[in-house]
Amino acid sequence: MRVCIVGTGYVGLVSAACFAEMGNDVVCVDVNPKVVEKLKNGEVHIYEPGLEKLVQQNFKDGRLVFTTKLTEGLSNSELVFICVGTPSGDDGSCDLSYVEAVAKEIGSQMQKPLVIVDKSTVPVGTADFVRELIAAELKKRKVDIDFDVVSNPEFLKEGDAVQDFMKPDRVIVGTSSEKSASLLKELYAPFARSRDKLIVMSVRSAEMTKYAANCMLATKISFINEIANLCEQVGADVRDVRTGIGADHRIGYHFIYPGLGYGGSCFPKDVKALIHTARKYNFAPELLEAVDNVNNRQKVRMAERIRAYFDKMTKSENSVHGKTLALWGLAFKANTDDMRDAASLSIIQDLTKHGMKIQAFDPVAHNNARNILKNNPLVSIMDNQYDVLKNADALLVVTEWNQFRTPDFKRIKESLKNPLIFDGRNLYSDATLKELGFTYLSVGKA
Ligand code: UDX
Repeated sequence: MRVCIVGTGYVGLVSAACFAEMGNDVVCVDVNPKVVEKLKNGEVHIYEPGLEKLVQQNFKDGRLVFTTKLTEGLSNSELVFICVGTPSGDDGSCDLSYVEAVAKEIGSQMQKPLVIVDKSTVPVGTADFVRELIAAELKKRKVDIDFDVVSNPEFLKEGDAVQDFMKPDRVIVGTSSEKSASLLKELYAPFARSRDKLIVMSVRSAEMTKYAANCMLATKISFINEIANLCEQVGADVRDVRTGIGADHRIGYHFIYPGLGYGGSCFPKDVKALIHTARKYNFAPELLEAVDNVNNRQKVRMAERIRAYFDKMTKSENSVHGKTLALWGLAFKANTDDMRDAASLSIIQDLTKHGMKIQAFDPVAHNNARNILKNNPLVSIMDNQYDVLKNADALLVVTEWNQFRTPDFKRIKESLKNPLIFDGRNLYSDATLKELGFTYLSVGKA
């Protein structure tokens, strides 16, 4: 099959490389000539394990091509996937300007029947909006070409994107056209091998499914974070509580790890967008608002605990002023260089506002972080996880990179001014750290 993919972000590039890997001819279109040039040279502009190799191989084999010209992508393609960004507007709404621009361009350039697929996360009703935009362009051109707009939301996770795409839990296809459904069934056959993995439903149900899935997962995280905070108050340990509730198969163990609040390009944006949609329909989204509020509070809670700890120890106020914190991990989670809505940024903002210095390390997100934090004179980002410990008053673990899981505790103790670790990801054992002489504060335990 010949497929056109518009947008080379996480969703677009991963979809393109994986479709090409299964033998399809894929034309990947991006408006940014620098990105296209890089991709043609085999350089992938995003950090995603396994992706670069897949892109290079399929490019070399000629199944994957890159261009800035949509016409090139549309010629001979039966399907075009819209995979452009849908950032958050100031009011929490989903900014559809990139989707709108692509839809208009498709309408002004398409020459033969086409199935247009919305793969970006877009609010309910967007497929109808895209349909209207394309129809208006065709009308302007005074041509009548058959087309359909399908919703096919993507559920991949950063860091596991290739694996998630290759072996999806399900593929959602929203369309009322049997022809479009069978075209997508054919394309996805190598991925959704068992029949019931590909679920066909109405366009609006498919659009809603994506938001419902992300909001459900965000709800689980805010729920466990709330329970963790309560555990700290009542003298319980959230790790045991998690194991205790997860054993109930109706609850399960997944996505109930407490931490520093969810970040990334999806959960914060999608929860806010669904709140915005609900309000547009005059519906009060009380649970979603609580999920969002709990998450915002969670992102600064560790900073507040650090400040409270030093104030208590020194019996003074704002005692973190002039002190130094070593910080491990800046990315919003492990295995990505993505800093969007990362908890590290909220924590750094809070602590530096109170005069604390930060010495940070991240194995992959260091360059992105340097760029974002370059105007904060209290932050220095270093290239070695042990260098950041020198002259620091404590260590805070923010991201669960594997290399932080079994560190050299002896070296940590020797380097820090105080044997003090704050752990935002509950990576270590209380007993071990106590034995080694550390004061250890984790999430969800007093
Ligand atoms: C998410 C969805 O998982 C994916 O299906 C969707 O397509 C895009 O959004 P992603 O943002 O890449 O993927 O990351 P994910 O692994 O889901 O983590 C999101 C955030 O939640 C991270 O900040 C992570 O640290 C946090 N999280 C996750 C927790 O705090 N606790 C958990 O138990 C799980």
